[in-house]
Amino acid sequence: MGRNKVTVIGAGNVGATAAQRIAEAGLADVVLVDIVEGLPQGKGLDLAEAAPVVGHDAHILGTNDYADTAGSDIVVVTSGLARQPGMSRDDLLAKNAGIVRSVVQAAVAHSPDCILVIVTNPLDAMCHVAMEASGFPRERVIGMAGVLDSSRFRTFIAMELGVSVEDTHAFVLGGHGDTMVPLPRYSTVAGIPITELMPPERVQALVERTANGGAEIVAFLKAGSAYYAPAASTFEMVDAILRDRKRVLPCAVFLRGEYGVDGLFVGVPVVLGEGGMERIIEIRLTNDEAAAFQRSAGAVRELVDKLHA
Ligand code: NAI
Ligand code: 2OP
Repeated sequence: MGRNKVTVIGAGNVGATAAQRIAEAGLADVVLVDIVEGLPQGKGLDLAEAAPVVGHDAHILGTNDYADTAGSDIVVVTSGLARQPGMSRDDLLAKNAGIVRSVVQAAVAHSPDCILVIVTNPLDAMCHVAMEASGFPRERVIGMAGVLDSSRFRTFIAMELGVSVEDTHAFVLGGHGDTMVPLPRYSTVAGIPITELMPPERVQALVERTANGGAEIVAFLKAGSAYYAPAASTFEMVDAILRDRKRVLPCAVFLRGEYGVDGLFVGVPVVLGEGGMERIIEIRLTNDEAAAFQRSAGAVRELVDKLHA
């Protein structure tokens, strides 16, 4: 049996860092693709030259040619533009939709059986574009956001309580944006809900910090957005799928009535294994949580409607 093959489209900050994690874990051979000539070749060669020191045998190839991606098990899509001065959110939505559509079409032509892991923002809307462009069933189009958002929540819980991140678990539902829905009663330290461990106003402060987690990093970096935690989160999903781990992770998936939402990608807990999204785990929400979830789904619906307008 040969090694698994993962294509990462977009050799920017998130893509190159995800490629590094996948290769250095020895999880799969990696093909790094970008539209800019030389960029994926340079980063790919640089990553390959680290292999003797790091000690792994994964092959890493940087390319502008989708023929090199043929037969990939997973295609990770990170290609896109960052918002430029003077560009509206809607302009960005249309531009990134065009990019995601074209790269997905090119990639699936060479890897018709792959699983797509979408990272490009606005995340939930880009998952729609990828599903339409690929014609894939919903099990094979999965968006990365919830793993990142809950990792941020876990970090803040651990900082607040002075405990190991390893013992923290966090539960975040909804779209990737200001309307995401962190669920404190299912967020725990060694199984104890955080609502038992800190006063309500501190819980609320951590929830708000989580929802603004992306913006907090942008405010520091100014010229870019987060990529270490996003790449680590992408790696966790790729690992769960390739090693058929049946991990229970929050991911953006296409809902067909689950959680009272039909025909939209929204973040919910799912089982990830070799089949991609193998199962959606549905839990009963309180009235307030259900209302917050519906608000979040509404924000995704607005973007998707704009795409189809
Ligand atoms: P970046 O700007 O460093 O990299 C993007 C890369 O995409 C660039 O190298 C660019 O040349 C490439 N690209 C543009 N058009 C292309 C095309 N048609 N074909 C192939 N490559 C193309 O950006 P970064 O920081 O890596 O972020 C990538 C995307 O991921 C952004 O949309 C960002 O908002 C999103 N993101 C999403 C997260 C999530 O939780 N879902 C978390 C972090 C980032
Ligand atoms: C983040 O949450 C920009 O979506 C990206 O960091």
